[in-house]
Amino acid sequence: MAAAHDAYKPDNKVLAWIEERLPIIGFMRSATTDYYAPKNFNVMYYFGSLALLVLVNQIVTGIFLTMNFNPSAAGAFASVQYIMRDVEWGWLIRYMHTTGASLFFVVVYLHMFRALMYGSYKKPRELLWILGMFVYLALMAEAFMGYVLPWGQMSFWGAKVIISLFGAVPVIGNKLVEWIMGDFLPADATLNRFFALHVIALPLVLLMLVVLHLWALHEVGSNNPDGVEIKESKDAAGRPLDGIPFHPYYTVKDLFGVGVFLLIAAFIIFYQPTFFGFFLEHDNFVPANNLVTPAAIHPVWYFMPFYAMLRVIPSKGLGVITLFSAIALLFFMPWIDRGKVKSWRYRGAGYKVALGLFALAFIWLGKIGGGEGTWIGDTYIGRALTGVYFAFFIFLWAYTYFGWEKTKPVPLRVTTHD
Ligand code: HEM
Repeated sequence: MAAAHDAYKPDNKVLAWIEERLPIIGFMRSATTDYYAPKNFNVMYYFGSLALLVLVNQIVTGIFLTMNFNPSAAGAFASVQYIMRDVEWGWLIRYMHTTGASLFFVVVYLHMFRALMYGSYKKPRELLWILGMFVYLALMAEAFMGYVLPWGQMSFWGAKVIISLFGAVPVIGNKLVEWIMGDFLPADATLNRFFALHVIALPLVLLMLVVLHLWALHEVGSNNPDGVEIKESKDAAGRPLDGIPFHPYYTVKDLFGVGVFLLIAAFIIFYQPTFFGFFLEHDNFVPANNLVTPAAIHPVWYFMPFYAMLRVIPSKGLGVITLFSAIALLFFMPWIDRGKVKSWRYRGAGYKVALGLFALAFIWLGKIGGGEGTWIGDTYIGRALTGVYFAFFIFLWAYTYFGWEKTKPVPLRVTTHD
């Protein structure tokens, strides 16, 4: 990469002067017109750029919300109502932010699933995947704290349930919960610190992680639906034969994705902003009241699969360990899966079935996590599905470690389906 921007000399004198001191145009060229991406990207490759778009949307709309939001237990709920009713275009800014939060997770879950389909976490992209997992963790913390801010019933009780999980830590558990809340219940101190973390600390962490994620991506280059390394077949000039310049080809393709995505987002924002109570829950239109517990406490949809694991496991300690290991295991995917073939196109049937069951278990757990929790059957089904979730990792390790997987021959060059 360094060679590409050292070499660039603009004709314009002013630009050349700047370029000699700060090779910014060279850097941009090396990341766009001189950056070669596989020519066979499919629809699953839209979600990275869409995640970037949503990130920008969240930051911009967040700045405007912050101008009128009052981060105090006494004033937060009313200030959100003020934004919705009195601030010019305040309703639009807020709905863009709340819809953006949910769509962020839609996009990121699809982005992660794509990595599982095509083995994008495998060598040489292990660190890219791990940085992605840190992004996912930061995103979960960011979304959780944002949800507490409007100080509705579900903000309060959600915060209480989730923070109380830290009570499962041996010895220091109770002290830890008090320390996080700054009180014995979620209160003013909790809201103040969550506000600070939500508007500045975590967005900074998220931005830095995304920069590292993209840096790692550009170092190793994108994988693709065939799981073929395009850097292994190059022309005389050293350009990958199966690569095309990112700009203009993928900038234009990504713009098409942005158009479709914005249509869907606009439809939700203008016609169904609560998305049937999934993006903005009915209980959160009621101000927080520490004396009245809502009939069913559950987090927003994107946390529900993990929440279900917590719900169906009787011991709190074991539930918390299960929940954290469910996320932690994903970090180790590059080492759990020892198979040499990346893309599921050429992997054994066992992998496809296991990945399908894993996705099904995750979605069904989400349904159980969001349910009333009154039917005993859900508890048993939930336990079985938690078993399926963990079995995926154990199976995958054994399947690839003992060489049980029967793979198909991987082509030397990417295939295009035109
Ligand atoms: C704010 C969130 C995120 C942003 C903005 C982001 C951005 C991107 C972009 C722009 C790409 C290249 C385009 C593409 O492959 O779609 C990419 C690739 C990738 N991302 Fe992310 N990402 C995010 C979160 C994640 C997460 C949570 C993971 C997984 C844990 C992840 C794992 C990957 C992997 C493995 C690739 C390479 C995929 C391949 O080449 O096949 N990313 N990311």
